[in-house]
Amino acid sequence: MFSQCQPIHARSIVPCQDTPAVKFTYEADVMAPEEFTVLMSALRGDTRNNRTSFHQPIPIPSYLLAIAVGVLEQRTLGPRSKVWSEKEEIERSAWEFAETEKYLQAAERLCGRYEWTQYDLLVLPPSFPYGGMENPCLTFVTPTLLAGDRSLADVIVHEIMHSWTGNLVTNRNFEHFWLNEGFTVFLERKVGASLIADPVEAKRSRDFHSLLGLQELTETVYEELGAENPLTKLVVDLNGVHPDDAFSTMPYEKGSLFLRYIEDLVGGPEVFDDFLRSYLNNFKKKSLDTDQFKAYLLNYFKDNEGLKTVDWNQWLYGCGMPPIIPDYDKSMTKTIMAVVENISRGATPNASDVRALSPHQLIHLLQELIEQPALSLDTLRLLGEEYGLKNSRNAEIEYRWLRLCIRSKDQDRLGDVFNFVNRQGRMKYVRPIYRDLYAWEDVRDQAIDNFLKNEQNMMHVSAYTLKKDLHLTN
Ligand code: BES
Ligand code: ZN
Repeated sequence: MFSQCQPIHARSIVPCQDTPAVKFTYEADVMAPEEFTVLMSALRGDTRNNRTSFHQPIPIPSYLLAIAVGVLEQRTLGPRSKVWSEKEEIERSAWEFAETEKYLQAAERLCGRYEWTQYDLLVLPPSFPYGGMENPCLTFVTPTLLAGDRSLADVIVHEIMHSWTGNLVTNRNFEHFWLNEGFTVFLERKVGASLIADPVEAKRSRDFHSLLGLQELTETVYEELGAENPLTKLVVDLNGVHPDDAFSTMPYEKGSLFLRYIEDLVGGPEVFDDFLRSYLNNFKKKSLDTDQFKAYLLNYFKDNEGLKTVDWNQWLYGCGMPPIIPDYDKSMTKTIMAVVENISRGATPNASDVRALSPHQLIHLLQELIEQPALSLDTLRLLGEEYGLKNSRNAEIEYRWLRLCIRSKDQDRLGDVFNFVNRQGRMKYVRPIYRDLYAWEDVRDQAIDNFLKNEQNMMHVSAYTLKKDLHLTN
């Protein structure tokens, strides 16, 4: 059993003021049969007579209330971290997340002391609808992160960064969700890069991940939402709109891109990192909205000329792509773009194209191919074999490979596609795949059938959202 309260589901567990505008500490005493372990988003006390006690001494918004119960194993990851999972995943989990303490220390170097004492991870069953959820003291993660090569650790870094942006400094409501997610992506990329010793490589890597984000932003604006959609604004109007229906990568990627734009304007990381620490310190244990952020920034950089050129109205309330795209270092995407061009010009995919690429570079390459006209079935098959995509254990790679198969209308791969969406429920993967299947008219009915057969196995939020995507609700 596990909960998912963000954005507005705490009210279905306890009566509360279910808004991130207010915060509370909590204590809990939870009873469960002997063989079960109970975990919560809090510090765990003793278990006596099948009752486990918890307390969360730092005030949190209601959406960070969390509970999970299962027959669980644990492994120690570091001085303040354990990983929890069912026994089948425990070894793989302990290996995949072994560097957690290293990430925590890198995060502390940027943001200051980690205040929540404990940082544990809980690997959930595959129906968990998100990549990760930053429940305080106990991040929830999808088992799709278990790639076997630690390459998806950026999700852990992301959830760690929420310990500051989101969990200490919180959006007043979900119209200002970018203050949670945009800041967190921005910090995630800084901390991710800070783990690379060579400063030139670090800068390249940070910009490379920003370019991956820009790719996703472009897909969201032009394919998913449409450039005129009011949900493409950084600050959205949620009057009469359920925040689950407004969820997209916009606050993540437009938000972090905006912060990068500001960082460049005011003079780069040297100046901006100090601002970040000051901002965190000022608003910790509070909730704020975009106007408060803006006022704090403008006051902090009172004498800065660059900031005076910001078109706030366009950035905060304009639809579509951001008005200005930062000048990212493209050296890590250059070779990839050359391969993409060759393939779309009809060249035969060859294993040597990708031998030197990191998993994330391969992901970038596949993402570019998804945006190109469909590959011929012959090219697609060679790509699958030569690039080792068919047997990849990396869900980010498998996901993009299967989307390429759908783009090329490869009927023979449909079994693999259904298998993938039935075996895990991460919305980031499942939604675009169903969207693609829906657009392919010959298989639309099969896709709907497959969804209806599996609906009972899904978390409510996934089923509810997919139903809308598949036009099964009025
Ligand atoms: N807080 C979010 C997950 C979330 C958002 C749950 C809104 C419910 C409503 C979490 O921090 C997150 O952003 N997860 C991402 C991973 C991240 C690396 C971008 C995800 O689930 O993919
Ligand atoms: Zn997040």
